Amino acid sequence: MGPTIKIENLTMFRSQRQVLDRVTMTVAGGEIVCLLGPSGSGKSSLLRCVNRLAEPPVGTVFVDDVDVTTMDVLQLRRQVGMVFQQVALFPGTVADNVGYGAALQKRSLRQRSEQALSPQDITHLLHLADLPAELAQQDSHALSGGQAQRVAIARTLATEPSALLLDEPTSALDPASTKHVEETMLRLRQTLGLTLLWVTHNPDQARRVADRIVLLVNGRLEDEGTPEHLFREGSTHLAATFAAGDLE
Ligand SMILES: Nc1ncnc2c1ncn2[C@@H]1O[C@H](COP(=O)(O)OP(=O)(O)OP(=O)(O)O)[C@@H](O)[C@H]1O
Ligand SMILES: [Mg+2]
Repeated sequence: MGPTIKIENLTMFRSQRQVLDRVTMTVAGGEIVCLLGPSGSGKSSLLRCVNRLAEPPVGTVFVDDVDVTTMDVLQLRRQVGMVFQQVALFPGTVADNVGYGAALQKRSLRQRSEQALSPQDITHLLHLADLPAELAQQDSHALSGGQAQRVAIARTLATEPSALLLDEPTSALDPASTKHVEETMLRLRQTLGLTLLWVTHNPDQARRVADRIVLLVNGRLEDEGTPEHLFREGSTHLAATFAAGDLE
């Protein structure tokens, strides 16, 4: 089961503007929490504090009760993988891309130092990301957007993370590819017990995939609870945050 991610009192400024204001929240082990909010509400900023791409002046992030600032940063980023909206694949084959992170860290799935992943490892990782083994030798630039995002997911999984930070991983994808990535993530949580903190500005996506939703507005935690709670009749928080059309 993945780790618990606990965020306490996170406060952050950018160019003298407050982007996070005393945010406290928890993602339990194996839970999917969606961080939902409009553009500029601080979602990416919060996510980046979890794996120390940003180090906030106030507040603490704990992964299984360990303060992340006391952890080795590479160890932290292996344990807590990240998937971005903009997929950056390198020139080369799919297999090159999937093996890249693990080779860089000189640590393959089977702990053989300084070796790239075996073809079996690549096949396994492609399978986890719901891609066919035949794709391994394909040129990475010849992929569809949806395939490229799943290759990026396979690459992230190569370092065997127990939690994932997802920063709008489907917002550049068409609806069918979006559904596919959602299904892949739900299955990964089911089979590997991954803890997922999933940023989205799409209320419908949050409703589909989240165990719990945290609503972030102007850097502040505005509301949190199950999808049923957030979308309950008469609740004003979501409606005040998103245009009515976004909620249909
Ligand atoms: N490097 C930076 N320098 C200055 N301001 C920044 C920087 N990064 C983010 N900000 C500001 O911080 C605020 C929060 O940005 P953040 O990227 O966390 O929002 P977001 O919720 O992820 O938005 P989006 O949905 O558009 O990705 C915004 O007002 C943004 O302009
Ligand atoms: Mg963002």
